[in-house]
Amino acid sequence: MKTLPPPKTRTYKVDSRHFMPMVGDLVELVTVRIADKSTRSHVVQLGRSIRQHAFDARDTLPVIDHPSLPAFLGCDELGDIVLPSVDTISLSGLGFVIPYTLLATIASALKPKKIFEIGTFRGVGALTMAINAPQAEIYTLDLPEQYTSTEIETLSKGDKEWVRLSRTSTGFAFQSHPASVRIHQLRGNSLTFTPPPELRNVDLCFIDGGHSYECIKADTETALRILSPNGVIVWDDYTWFIDGVSNYLTELSRSLRLHRIAGSQLVIYRREPEHFH
Ligand SMILES: C[S@@+](CC[C@H](N)C(=O)[O-])C[C@H]1O[C@@H](n2cnc3c(N)ncnc32)[C@H](O)[C@@H]1O
Repeated sequence: MKTLPPPKTRTYKVDSRHFMPMVGDLVELVTVRIADKSTRSHVVQLGRSIRQHAFDARDTLPVIDHPSLPAFLGCDELGDIVLPSVDTISLSGLGFVIPYTLLATIASALKPKKIFEIGTFRGVGALTMAINAPQAEIYTLDLPEQYTSTEIETLSKGDKEWVRLSRTSTGFAFQSHPASVRIHQLRGNSLTFTPPPELRNVDLCFIDGGHSYECIKADTETALRILSPNGVIVWDDYTWFIDGVSNYLTELSRSLRLHRIAGSQLVIYRREPEHFH
């Protein structure tokens, strides 16, 4: 596949043809639609979109778009990426595939030998990375089956729901897949996790466990301790409604060069050898 030059930065113009129809749509949403129970969900979506766009507009992290990821990761020519089946992806409960498309691109471009994921859930992320990095061993950590309420006390209601849902189905997505021979399920609380000796020189860390400030900080510190000299960290859930992630990563961006991946909630960091100590 030929590598194309990166596209020019897009500029957005206000299109006057759409202005009045847009005002009309807005009035309809906040009057007719909000009054009608069956269409009220669209107004809720509007509110969420506004908050997301305001978050994006205020955000100061530099942005990388999807086609620029391979070059950012030092890959001149990216082959095909592979996704798990739609049934398997739907186990993630997200309802969209973009994060897995990006993870597949990152794993394929980076060609990591060792991957560490915090937050297995049903294992869609672990499987996606495994099938796009056929040379890699993947270690994925989730809470023990039996955990105490104090272990998850820093988590939000939403995060506690992820924990509850994952109890009886951790790693389901990869369990009967041929790639599972390379996926190693670890159990423990990432807040107090001591990486075993095999978790040295990790090329790719995917942080997607608990999303409280305490968890993200602890997980990032663990990742930075075990990361290889050219290693990459990816965080999920950098968005307007998850303060723990956005506050911590904003602070971290003062000392590490972090980038957002356009159109997603992912943030990426690539360690450069001169910054390694
Ligand atoms: C959003 S889900 C992970 C999704 C998964 N990475 C994927 O791509 O499909 C978050 C997971 O993190 C786990 N988790 C939450 N807090 C944790 C902690 N302190 N230590 C380890 N795992 C944790 C939850 O049990 C849940 O399974």
